Amino acid sequence: MLENSQSTPAITAEPCALVIFGATGDLTARKLLPAIYNLSKDGLLPPSSVVIGFARRPKTDAEFREEMLRGINAFSRSRPVDPGVWEKLAPRLFYHQSSFDQADGYQSLATRLLELDKTHGLGGRRLYYLSTSPTEFGTIVSQLGQAGLGNIDPFNSKAWRRVIVEKPFGHDLQSAQQLNWAINRVFDESQVFRIDHYLGKQTVQNLLVFRFANGIFEPIWNRRYVDHVQVTVAEDIGVEGRGGYFDTAGTLRDMIQNHLMQLLTLVAMEPPVSLDGDAIRDEKVRVLKAISAFTPEQVEKMTVRGQYSAGSENGKPVIGYHEERGVKADSTTETYAAVQLAIDNWRWYGVPFYLRSGKHLKRKGSEINIHFNRAPGVLFNTPQRGTSANVLTLRIQPRESIGLRMNAKRPGTAATIAPVGMNFHYSEAFGSYSPEAYERLLLDAILGDSTLFIRRDEVESAWQIIDRIEGSWAAGKPPLKIYSPGSWGPAEAEELLKSSGRSWDELPT
Ligand code: BG6
Repeated sequence: MLENSQSTPAITAEPCALVIFGATGDLTARKLLPAIYNLSKDGLLPPSSVVIGFARRPKTDAEFREEMLRGINAFSRSRPVDPGVWEKLAPRLFYHQSSFDQADGYQSLATRLLELDKTHGLGGRRLYYLSTSPTEFGTIVSQLGQAGLGNIDPFNSKAWRRVIVEKPFGHDLQSAQQLNWAINRVFDESQVFRIDHYLGKQTVQNLLVFRFANGIFEPIWNRRYVDHVQVTVAEDIGVEGRGGYFDTAGTLRDMIQNHLMQLLTLVAMEPPVSLDGDAIRDEKVRVLKAISAFTPEQVEKMTVRGQYSAGSENGKPVIGYHEERGVKADSTTETYAAVQLAIDNWRWYGVPFYLRSGKHLKRKGSEINIHFNRAPGVLFNTPQRGTSANVLTLRIQPRESIGLRMNAKRPGTAATIAPVGMNFHYSEAFGSYSPEAYERLLLDAILGDSTLFIRRDEVESAWQIIDRIEGSWAAGKPPLKIYSPGSWGPAEAEELLKSSGRSWDELPT
C-alpha cells in the first residue's frame, strides 16, 4: 500500500531470511547489498534478519562478506561504510554453494534455513530473490517447490514465503505465461513479487500523489484538455558489457514493455478505489487492456526502431552497437524505440501517447510531458505572437522535479510573449535524501506489500501489446534505422510527431 499519512510510517517488518539466487552476479553487489546495508543503517531492517547468497561458484562465508563489503563501498548511496553498521550486518551474511538444478543443494538450504530460524528467531519467514539469468527462473522455482521451500504453513500465517522475480519477465507473451504457470505451481500469486525498479523510484510513486492528492489536476486530466503525452527514458550510455543479454532483447522488450508501460499506466489510470495494492493494479491493468491492438500497417506507421552506429559522444569515441561484446555481427536488435499508442477509453480517446527510449542518446533523462491544448487562436495565440502550449513536466531523473510551462508577457512596450516555467525541485523542497529504488522494493516485499510490484495480468497484458510490434519488426517493417551516438535517435522518430504538427520535447541539460 502507498502510505497516505504525512509522516513515514513506523516499520513493523519481522525478521526473515533473504535468499539471493545468483548472488555472485552484478545486481547483488551493485544494488541488493547496498540496499540491505542502507535499510540496516536506517533501522528499517530487523536486526536479526539474515541474507544467504546462493550461487554456483565455491566461496566461503568470509569471502562472500568481503565481496559484499567491496560492493557496498563502491555503490552504496551513503559512503563511507559505517563500521558499526557493517559489524552487525556482516555476521548475518552467509554463502550457500550449489548449482541451480541440484536437488541436494536445496535440501541443504532447507536444513540451513531451519537452523537459522532457531538461532535468529526467523519464524520460517523467507524471501527468495531470483537474480539469475531468466533461463534459470523456472528451475529454481521448481526446485524450491520440490524441497518444500515454497509452501506456506496454513496454521502459521506469520511463517510466510515470498519470491521476488527480476526482469526480464519472459521474452514474449507465451514465455511470460509459461513462466507464470511454473511460478504459480509453487507459489500463490499473493506470494509473487515481480520487480520493476522504476516503481521503486520516489518520483514515480509521487505520480499518484501528484494526481490524486491535488484537486486541480484531475478535472483537466483527460481528452478535453490534453493534446498528447510524451514519455521519454533516454540514456547516454550503451549496453555496458550486457551485450549478450541485450542483443536477445532490444529496447522494446528491455525498456518499453516494463518501465515505460508502467509510467504510462500511472499517468493514464483512473483513480483507484483505495490505495490497496490490488485496487491500484486493477486500474493499471484496465489501461493496458484499453490500448488498441496494432495492425501490421499501424506498426509500420506508428513505431520507429533504431540502432546506434560508431561515432562520438561528449567528445569521447563510441563503438558501434555491432562492435559491442556479445552482440551478433549482423544484429538487427534495436537500441532505440519510439511508439505511438492509443488508449481507447472515455478519458483518453484520441489522445496519442508517445513513448521513446534509447541508448547513446544526447542526454540521460527520464520524464513525462503532458501537453495541454493550446489557447484558442484569437487574442494572443497567433503566429506573430508565438505562444506555446502549456506543458506539465514530471521529471523522474536526474534532478527530480515538476514543472509547468506557461506563456508570459516579456517586459517592455511590445506585446511579445515568451514561455516561462513554474518549477518544484525535489532536492530544494526535501533535501537530497532519497532511498534507492531497491531499498523501497526490498522492504515492501518483506512487509508483504505488493503495490509496487507487477501482477500476473499486468505483465501479460503488456506483452500482448509488445508482441504485435515485435511481429512486424521481425518481418522488417518498419526497417531498422541507424543513428549517431549523441543524437536524439533516428530522424524518423521526429516524423512520427511532425505529421500531426507536434515535436518531441528537448530534455534539459
Ligand atoms: C534496466 C535495463 O531495466 O534499466 C537497462 O535493463 C537500463 O538496459 C536500466 O540501462 C535503466 O535504469 P535507470 O534506473 O538507470 O534509468
